[in-house]
Amino acid sequence: MRWRSLVPFSALALLPAAAQSAYTLEQVYAGDTFYDGWEFWGNRDNLTNGATYYVTKGESAGVAYTNEAGNAIIRVDNRSELAPNGLRNSVRMTTARTFDLGRLIVMDALHLPYGCATWPAFWAHAVSWPSGGEIDFFEGVNLQETNQVAMHTVSGCYADNATQATGELTFNNCDHGVDANRGCTFVDPRNGSYGADFAAGGGGVYAAELASDGISVWFFPRADIPADLRSEAATPDPTTWGLPMASYPSTTCNINQYFAPQQLTINIALCGDWAGQPGVFSPTCGMGTCADYVKDPSNFDNAYFEISSIRVFSGGLNTRAATAVAAASGIIGAIGGQASAVSAAERGRTAVGGQGGVAGAVGAAAAAAGLAALALLQRAL
Ligand SMILES: *[C@@H]1O[C@H](CO)[C@@H](O)[C@H](O)[C@H]1NC(C)=O
Ligand SMILES: *[C@@H]1O[C@H](CO)[C@@H](O)[C@H](O)[C@H]1NC(C)=O
Ligand SMILES: *[C@@H]1O[C@H](CO)[C@@H](O)[C@H](O)[C@H]1NC(C)=O
Ligand SMILES: *[C@@H]1O[C@H](CO)[C@@H](O)[C@H](O)[C@H]1NC(C)=O
Repeated sequence: MRWRSLVPFSALALLPAAAQSAYTLEQVYAGDTFYDGWEFWGNRDNLTNGATYYVTKGESAGVAYTNEAGNAIIRVDNRSELAPNGLRNSVRMTTARTFDLGRLIVMDALHLPYGCATWPAFWAHAVSWPSGGEIDFFEGVNLQETNQVAMHTVSGCYADNATQATGELTFNNCDHGVDANRGCTFVDPRNGSYGADFAAGGGGVYAAELASDGISVWFFPRADIPADLRSEAATPDPTTWGLPMASYPSTTCNINQYFAPQQLTINIALCGDWAGQPGVFSPTCGMGTCADYVKDPSNFDNAYFEISSIRVFSGGLNTRAATAVAAASGIIGAIGGQASAVSAAERGRTAVGGQGGVAGAVGAAAAAAGLAALALLQRAL
């Protein structure tokens, strides 16, 4: 706490407003323009050995469209009878752009895909995998009842079971090379976080904060969505939301080091390396094989996302640049003089190609000093 008295006056003047509601809307995927800015896979599932053909954008009319309510429907084909070992049409779509640290990613959905053979996810990953990391915000297989959140990285990134979260940490090592790429995983205890119960509750919101001091994921059932996520105009403040379901602090996983800027992906795989394994498929889905199950289209009536929006907010205080400032100037630098913090802030911005979240938004060198001090202050507290 004693660090407070050391913050320069110019920083104090800037802190209160910026610290409480820094996030502002940067990108919206919704309605008729939902599909703008996404690339479609256009090949069979050559990544997880699944029984899907992922359509091109030109082929997507029957499986990726906007419904009468204005929501995006992203689904598995439930019309075509398949020949043995046939591939069922589905979607794997990825944002053309990336989002760096300092972002809040919010998906509002009314329905998530579920059912035997089905393996859907809404997730983020670096262009270069696994070196740039992967974060799965929502993922499930077969008749799994609740959501799980996982991260996959190169060696050396861990979840910490001492971190407070409402989910249960079932595996703490994020290294993709350990235990067949299981990933550091939190399981949501709430039935409403996935499957038929999710839809019955009117769906809800998944929100993920990508910050240099930690990655956190919340799930809010429709009835419990915070006011600052219900209004388009609001500036969401995750510090008011209560504990996240999953939380990965930078103390046990250096987020700057393990996570590069992330693309978002929505996909629905069928069978393959996870859902289709006999030990995973059979216990809940019966005696046949997953490949046989895929032939009948009526098995996929519930294999769809209905998404009212995906919104990305920028302006989070714990950006890659803010941490670069902290690392470059050190706490001694901040105490010793603002000048070094300012120049470090400038260097930090340059280092991320001028993106500079908060520093860029506020603009002035004085603000950079204040934010640098804030970043240090938050670490000290
Ligand atoms: C998998 O499919 C994608 C998309 O068509 C293609 O770019 C990639 O080269 C394929 N990878 C392999 C290993 O075949
Ligand atoms: C984390 O702690 C919980 C509660 O004690 C326990 O059930 C769980 O197995 C632990 N997870 C790991 C990965 O150790
Ligand atoms: C979740 O659903 C399962 C199966 O319907 C049920 O057995 C279980 O009691 C439910 N759990 C909660 C917390 O409601
Ligand atoms: C496919 O599933 C949807 C519900 O997701 C349903 O409305 C539709 O009738 C199904 N199509 C066929 C051909 O059964």
